[in-house]
Amino acid sequence: MPHTPRVFSGVQPSGSLTLGNYLGAIKRFVELQGSGMETIYCVVDLHAITVWQDPKELTAATRGVAAAFLACGIDPKKSILFNQSQVPAHTQLAWIFNCVVRLGWLNRMTQFKDKAGKDREAASAGLYAYPALMAADILVYRATHVPVGEDQKQHLELTRDIAAKFNNDFDAPDFFPLTEPLIGGPAPRVMSLRDGSKKMSKSDPSDMSRINLTDDADAIAQKIRKARTDPEPLPETPEGLEGRAEARNLVGIYAALSGLTAEQVLAEYAGQGFGAFKPKLAELAVEKITPIADEMRRLLADPGEIDRILGDGAKRAEAIAVPILEETYRTVGLIGSR
Ligand code: TYM
Repeated sequence: MPHTPRVFSGVQPSGSLTLGNYLGAIKRFVELQGSGMETIYCVVDLHAITVWQDPKELTAATRGVAAAFLACGIDPKKSILFNQSQVPAHTQLAWIFNCVVRLGWLNRMTQFKDKAGKDREAASAGLYAYPALMAADILVYRATHVPVGEDQKQHLELTRDIAAKFNNDFDAPDFFPLTEPLIGGPAPRVMSLRDGSKKMSKSDPSDMSRINLTDDADAIAQKIRKARTDPEPLPETPEGLEGRAEARNLVGIYAALSGLTAEQVLAEYAGQGFGAFKPKLAELAVEKITPIADEMRRLLADPGEIDRILGDGAKRAEAIAVPILEETYRTVGLIGSR
């Protein structure tokens, strides 16, 4: 069964979004709108509650991510935009996948190990089963392509393993596609501004480690000015960035924001030190990021309109998901009609 090319991706509403979320994911979601593939983008609120979320903040953060999608250029006429909990087919398929996935597979997930920390006994069962819900998000649409940052690679490999095992167990070749991860661009892994060995993350205790999409011009400029670097000038080619994690990160951010390749950025700045490069990067970041924050504020002034867009997207998502879920139920041998 050849599968219709279809893009799906999701972002958690937990804390404010970072430049990493933008460059690794959302900016690329927008670019895929013109690809000819159907695009489905989801605020994954059920994933967020695998760790404690204050209910009011969760509601606000869900609208915040939806507003960020819209402000970055997701067009609800071109893409389906909704929040996960409004389409119960995700959790219905997730249960089936909980019965397909093996404990040994889940035990290997590095994100669970990171998030659960030392006291694993105290982690929620939802955090452990998280990747099965993620596979369901994707496969309930039979999505063929999933744009994500590099940190989600292992989860997407697991999604393929779940699809392959389901297809094999139920003797249904090609029932679910083996989804292709789309990990790329010049910034698939944006690193912390304070430590080039750590990913830029909304959960880092230091706000100076990240640029938030809601930061104002002064905050962006200050964070870039204070970003950790080395004393060497910029090299002529990307190979010269080897072993210089902080320098490579800033060049990658510049490239992704400007739409250039790292080669092109270095062709312009080779031989210059960070004293010259950082102000240019700050100027570019302010120019690209602050209009997003302004547009988000404008959209968030009318939460009813955001809820309407999410509700409309959920209906359109459901129209695709429910027939695939029903076919899955029949394949598994579950009796049911809706
Ligand atoms: P989340 O919410 O942590 O991040 C959303 C997206 O942003 C990317 N990202 C980054 N990319 C580059 N550099 C960084 N520093 C950086 N930080 C975050 C992530 O890779 C991701 O693409 N499990 C997912 C959400 C999810 C999902 C899905 C994704 C749930 N269901 C189905 C794809 C398909 C997550 O926690 O992303």
